[in-house]
Amino acid sequence: MKTIDELLSAGVTGKRVFVRADLNVPLDGTTITDDGRIRAVLPTVKALADAGARVVVASHLGRPKGAPDPAFSLKPAAVRLGELLGTEVAFATDTVGDSARSTVDGLADGQVAVIENLRFNAGETAKDDAERGAFADRLAALADVYVSDGFGAVHRKHASVHDLPARLPHYAGYLIATEVGVLKKLTEDVKRPYVVVLGGAKVSDKLAVIDQLLGKADRLLIGGGMAYTFLKAKGYEVGRSLLQEDQIPAVTEYLERAEKQGVELVLPVDAVVSPKFPDLKAKAPTHPTVVDADAIPADQEGLDIGPKTRELYASKIADAETVFWNGPMGVFEHPDYAEGTRAVAQALIDSNAFTVVGGGDSAAAVRTLGFDENAFGHISTGGGASLEYLEGKTLPGLAALED
Ligand code: 3PG
Repeated sequence: MKTIDELLSAGVTGKRVFVRADLNVPLDGTTITDDGRIRAVLPTVKALADAGARVVVASHLGRPKGAPDPAFSLKPAAVRLGELLGTEVAFATDTVGDSARSTVDGLADGQVAVIENLRFNAGETAKDDAERGAFADRLAALADVYVSDGFGAVHRKHASVHDLPARLPHYAGYLIATEVGVLKKLTEDVKRPYVVVLGGAKVSDKLAVIDQLLGKADRLLIGGGMAYTFLKAKGYEVGRSLLQEDQIPAVTEYLERAEKQGVELVLPVDAVVSPKFPDLKAKAPTHPTVVDADAIPADQEGLDIGPKTRELYASKIADAETVFWNGPMGVFEHPDYAEGTRAVAQALIDSNAFTVVGGGDSAAAVRTLGFDENAFGHISTGGGASLEYLEGKTLPGLAALED
């Protein structure tokens, strides 16, 4: 994998450099609620611009349906990128059309442009190789060189991630190098005890990684909506909590395997419950109650891990040498259900372990709950990407940089 440093030392003045970033930031209307992913790509964009490249930044945002949709415009991200760079950033209102061509043609050495959401073109995500390839051809016409720095999207076999690097000289940006370096530490040379904390809504999203981790981690702590499928598999009633009945056989098998292999698979012992899901916008108090995990009332929904579980999980993290955490412990967006996620974040900070927060919601959670990012070993920008890496899968966006 060639790195951006090799590109910079060969000289980039006047070259059009296509930077595939992941600017898929959470938005409230047009307001960015967490700009972590934009800040993460700054070192690459800045180094290229400072070296005189004409930088074309591209990304997806959300999941539009292959056609322009103003709700998913990258404009707010382009504006924020300009603020963070302290320079004007041009914006093309299409991906490979007249606006993109003239915006790129208008760039002077050292200037930066953002083109509109790549997923406004159906070719970006097409399953059909020829359709993706045709879009990649049009993207390739906008640039001389490709730099991959959208770690959050490297697990997608998409035109700008997988097909475009085959059409241009390609390099890994600083973010890709950092993320891959950290994940290698977790897979190749992990210091023990190795504790993994998994949360989030759906257990089905995490089955493959649990399967892998049962052979690698010393302890697996389970929280979030997915915990209720585990509790049900143990024979507990979970009331109106999130439940994936069809996953119970898989989860039961994991519980058995963990026991056989001597892996501690730790489940919540209590839960914060409420009769209904809270309004995340108004954030009005909901007066939840705390119940033991084997006593969730039929009319209540578990929305966070309870205080005994928080203490238990903190004690399981305290002596770790390595911690990987993916997925919030509860509905952290509402203050009544944020304490479990807060407690796990604090436990990571309090431990002497090398701590990795694995992207997506958990990364957004530590920032929105006001934690200092520098207190963690690494906060990944990729949720799905880091999980798939840990699953041992070949990631199309990384494989494309290998030759
Ligand atoms: C993410 O948010 O995990 C990445 O930006 C990838 O987005 P996607 O899941 O919509 O492909």
